[in-house]
Amino acid sequence: MQLQQSLKASKYRLVITGFCLIATTTSGCGPSAATSLDRRFLAGNKTGPNTSQTTPQANESINAINNSNLMNAARLNSFRPGEIWRDTEGQVINAHGGGFYVENGVYYWFGEVKGQDGLARAGISLYSSTDLYNWRNEGLVLAVDKSNPDSDIAEGAIIERPKVIFNKKTKKYVMWFHLELKGQGYGSARAGVAVSDTVRGPYRFLTSFKPNNEMSRDQTLFVDDNGKAYQIAASEENQTMHINELTDDYLKPNGKFVRAFIGRSMEAPAVFKYKGRYHLIASGCTGWDPNSARQAVADNMMGPWTELDNPAQGPESDVTFRSQSTYVLEVTPGSGQFIYIGDRWNPDNLADSRYIWLPLQYDNGRFTMSWKDEWQWGQALPVTP
Ligand code: GAL
Repeated sequence: MQLQQSLKASKYRLVITGFCLIATTTSGCGPSAATSLDRRFLAGNKTGPNTSQTTPQANESINAINNSNLMNAARLNSFRPGEIWRDTEGQVINAHGGGFYVENGVYYWFGEVKGQDGLARAGISLYSSTDLYNWRNEGLVLAVDKSNPDSDIAEGAIIERPKVIFNKKTKKYVMWFHLELKGQGYGSARAGVAVSDTVRGPYRFLTSFKPNNEMSRDQTLFVDDNGKAYQIAASEENQTMHINELTDDYLKPNGKFVRAFIGRSMEAPAVFKYKGRYHLIASGCTGWDPNSARQAVADNMMGPWTELDNPAQGPESDVTFRSQSTYVLEVTPGSGQFIYIGDRWNPDNLADSRYIWLPLQYDNGRFTMSWKDEWQWGQALPVTP
């Protein structure tokens, strides 16, 4: 069964490689992403104009916002999706494609640091909070390696979509991220793994690879109630998701994987569990441009998965309120209060990309969300308890 799936995967890859020539230097969305290929080409192609998305003027605007911090470091008591979100020092939060971890009443937000060229070339930042509104900058917990040009995370590598889970057996915090090696645009499609003895890091880079020898771009992690962990990643030039079971130490795939949503071009996966069922929210594949969110449900992590409709409702739901998913956070474990967390990428100034947090409502086996200018997490309660 497993072998058959692998063979199918390789065959599929051969077929699509023909039209995905550009995809080897970009994030590789295939034909459905035609409208944004140019943008992604600029973002990922090493021969492009300095791989730059962000103009000097754009950087100045973020610096100006940060320099005006003193007036704006006020304590927050609500979410304001899409507005500039400052940390407790008044600096704009720089933690894109985020992953979350909760321990002892403290929320931890790991994210990509968008730098001068708008790409995530610095490493992984960490912020902490006890109320989800006010976030303290804990610094860079995984930095690109500036001293070793041969490292997989040498300066120039792109590090995206970090996710951290805790392994109860080894007592290690394990971080997985999407890694693109230096000088290869979005062509290498690897997963990177780092570990730490403490949640606040610093995280020690261990290794990078293609899980089960397959491509791995946008990705997330999920730990089930029985301790089994999975990496879910956009594979096969982003045409098909792979759900990879991990070894007991969570450091690598154990060889069992399934191909899910075959040919559906899904990215930005966020997986969570509610009422014994597994839920997935993801995006379509249009680079930095927004599209309609996808939603799916399964009785088992390894499938079969059933696609449902777009969870977003109302105006701008066709572009998920101009956002792309990165995580679904349960406010308190077991509470059923889930928050959709997405990035509102700004392709003209990626460093000024914003965060879209919205409450998810559960109704009849599926989740929905609608736009809110401002809200508090008490409103994240599901409709049906
Ligand atoms: C998007 C992806 C982002 C980033 C970007 C690069 O499709 O979700 O995380 O990789 O492509 O073009």
